[in-house]
Amino acid sequence: MNQFIWPHKDLLDVDDLSLEEISYLLDSAEQFQEVNSRPIKKVPTLRGKGIVLFFAEDSTRTKTSFDIAGKRLSADTFALGKSGSSMNKGESLKDTALTLEAMNPDILVIRHSANGAAHFLAERLTRCSVVNAGDGRHAHPTQALLDAYTLRRQWQGKMQGKTVLIVGDILHSRVARSNIKLLSALGVKVRLFAPRTLMPLHIAHWPAEEAHDLNEGLAGTDAVICLRLQLERQTSGLLPDLAEYAARFCITSKSLSLAAPGAVVLHPGPINRGLEISAELADSPHSRILDQVNAGVAVRMAVLLTLGSRNDALAAACGQ
Ligand code: CP
Repeated sequence: MNQFIWPHKDLLDVDDLSLEEISYLLDSAEQFQEVNSRPIKKVPTLRGKGIVLFFAEDSTRTKTSFDIAGKRLSADTFALGKSGSSMNKGESLKDTALTLEAMNPDILVIRHSANGAAHFLAERLTRCSVVNAGDGRHAHPTQALLDAYTLRRQWQGKMQGKTVLIVGDILHSRVARSNIKLLSALGVKVRLFAPRTLMPLHIAHWPAEEAHDLNEGLAGTDAVICLRLQLERQTSGLLPDLAEYAARFCITSKSLSLAAPGAVVLHPGPINRGLEISAELADSPHSRILDQVNAGVAVRMAVLLTLGSRNDALAAACGQ
């Protein structure tokens, strides 16, 4: 992609990306996977750039992998949580973000419990790029990219015509929303299976079909994405009985055997063993859960490099 200048200041969700841009990020991530396998896992490409990781919600995988990704690109990374920040003294999200931008970072990575928080900041921060690391139940674009990367590797690049079943708490899942958009854009058929109370009302408008039982959902499926049950986002009794939930929705090796031969299982984490996925399946050769985590570093390196070098590429193109 010679002379290619990334057209987006921010990464807010996957539906902002064209197929060419998705391929560009996934191909870049392949190159960073090679860097990550070297004894010295560091390249100088973002030396002198600053990246702020502002996580107003808990995270293990996303926060750590963005931090590692930035450092492996030689950028300076600074992490701030809601706890320990002046948001705990009542400072607003807008003022927090403007304050952080005044320190001249090149990229602000944000996780927040409010839907649209990343969009809100992207409209107000004119100098630094905003990367959405998960906003409420709305979007988690880098998770969808790393899931697509993991499946693309699993299927040797052939996504078209494959089937993925997404199972569990779809109502509260930003991972499901971004995955449905990205996988369907890549030609993957997406099925959904959830308790009635955890299935959004408007799925008729989504590029996905609903399975009415697990057997129907699993038939011919090439991969299953289990979702975490987000009890912290449930305000009313949507699930009367966790044991009953596990009996119907927990994916086991036995249930995976009803899917297509060679089917694999993914989970964005953190996993609740025995509730969404059985412990033996999570630890089995059919699980790609740790491959997803591993891919997260390479995919986030691709995203950070693409956004972090964009201004330099624009300046060079303008002959400055
Ligand atoms: N998948 C995911 O977003 O995990 P964390 O909450 O640990 O970042």
